[in-house]
Amino acid sequence: MLLPPPPHVRELLARAGQPEVLRFWEQLSAEERRLLEAAVKQLEPGVLRAHCQEAAMARHREQQPAPNTHRHMKPLPGEVTGSSARTEPQSLRGWRERGFHEISENRVAVLLLAGGQGTRLGVPYPKGMYDVGLPSGKTLYQIQAERIRKVQQLAEERLGKKCVVPWYIMTSEFTLEPTRKFFAQHNYFDLVKSNIVMFEQQMLPAVDFNGKIILEQKGKIAMAPDGNGGLYRALTNNRILEDMDRRGIRFVHVYCVDNILVKMADPVFIGFCVEKGADCGAKVVEKAYPTEPVGVVCLVDGIYQVVEYSEVSQETVEQRNPDGRLTFNAGNICNHFFTVDFLKSVTEEFEPQLKRHIAVKKIPYVDEQGNTVRPEVPNGIKMEKFVFDVFQFSKKFVVFEVLREDEFSPLKNADSAGSKDTPSTARRALLWQHYRWAVQAGAHFLDSNNMRIPHLTRLQEAEEPPAVCEISALVSCEGEGLEEYLKDREFHSPLLLTEEALTALGQCQ
Ligand code: UTP
Repeated sequence: MLLPPPPHVRELLARAGQPEVLRFWEQLSAEERRLLEAAVKQLEPGVLRAHCQEAAMARHREQQPAPNTHRHMKPLPGEVTGSSARTEPQSLRGWRERGFHEISENRVAVLLLAGGQGTRLGVPYPKGMYDVGLPSGKTLYQIQAERIRKVQQLAEERLGKKCVVPWYIMTSEFTLEPTRKFFAQHNYFDLVKSNIVMFEQQMLPAVDFNGKIILEQKGKIAMAPDGNGGLYRALTNNRILEDMDRRGIRFVHVYCVDNILVKMADPVFIGFCVEKGADCGAKVVEKAYPTEPVGVVCLVDGIYQVVEYSEVSQETVEQRNPDGRLTFNAGNICNHFFTVDFLKSVTEEFEPQLKRHIAVKKIPYVDEQGNTVRPEVPNGIKMEKFVFDVFQFSKKFVVFEVLREDEFSPLKNADSAGSKDTPSTARRALLWQHYRWAVQAGAHFLDSNNMRIPHLTRLQEAEEPPAVCEISALVSCEGEGLEEYLKDREFHSPLLLTEEALTALGQCQ
């Protein structure tokens, strides 16, 4: 006998203005019905109605001409900015010391944003599990784990105290289970399991341009994570700030999963922010060229925010200072410093004010005959919050500029999609960096005829370094400590510098 939908499910969806979600109910198996009912029960009708209406309206607004944000834009004032390249070595040393001090006092945590679906890269597993083709075969997760181990070890050596940098990992329904399994299979990359805290962000239904929920299967609502700014809601839902308090954490370094050059708990950045008394900070890189499509950190009507490239006029984009640098050049790389107190103020007070951004996407759906359709053009909307939209709530905001070649190479697209932010560009960025470290430490590379390969500085991202050299993060985080082993020595390419290789080099000195 065919059972009608349970009244409470029907009623909930009617109140949310979404009765069509049940249109295939009679064709569903008992298990599919159970799953759909469970999914619907998680939704709050009032919130759902508002979400769907807002998505449709946002789409409408998006089609209107963009506001002239650039008219009110002001560049960052000098007093809130610092730079790794244009600062006296003495100040850099001071910030580094301060950062290591905080780390050694167990006051610093790292927080990874890993809830994204990675649709552009297009692999059926979390991006952190991606291997970009390094000689070691290491994945992004492994590289990050080893950098945490190394920074703990360096802090310990400097200050003579054992310390822990806990690793908070925000995942979503898409990434939690595979990430958990992957970490367990790899023995947590030799970190202590209890110092890795995975938590899940919220999912929201995807809707069509009329604000109607999209079904991806007859009995399955298309859901998407609520953007990396879903962090703040997720911190509350999962009581993460309480966990931080229990551990005595005061400072959090937040970063994205896809930047292969990311520094973990970067002591210089943390030291800079702490010394400046900041509650919120952003790392930026100089824009590569005026029309580079990255958001810039700046002031708009006196409020710190990230302005997207599309919101700025050509004239503003090309504006330059007397020294020739672009006026709006602070490219946002989604790498932030927050005090735990600031995160508390956001989660307790400001989170509901965060702007919702509209992402127009191609979302697979079932047609009226119940067939799955993979659309060729965008057909739906996902609503997202952005992690950086909290700058406006900061009482003391700072910005720290770093060199792109040292700290930023994101993995966004598949190699087949072109030449920007791909596995190849990420792999090359890391290999160039390690090649530079090795050469600076005095190494020479030999070709197959035992002839020295002339040193090169980096030419273009598209080019491979003259020799392949990969240095384990367990050996060196920033190129430090290599000279003792590499100076005036010759190596064949490829060189894979692991801890074992380093020990062997030490022995044959
Ligand atoms: P992106 O905006 O590049 O999105 O995320 P993505 O999901 O990785 O890739 P596409 O757009 O689908 O191709 C920047 C960072 O924010 C995280 C991602 O995991 C990445 O570290 N993120 C994004 C979340 O944690 N949650 C989200 O809902 C979205």
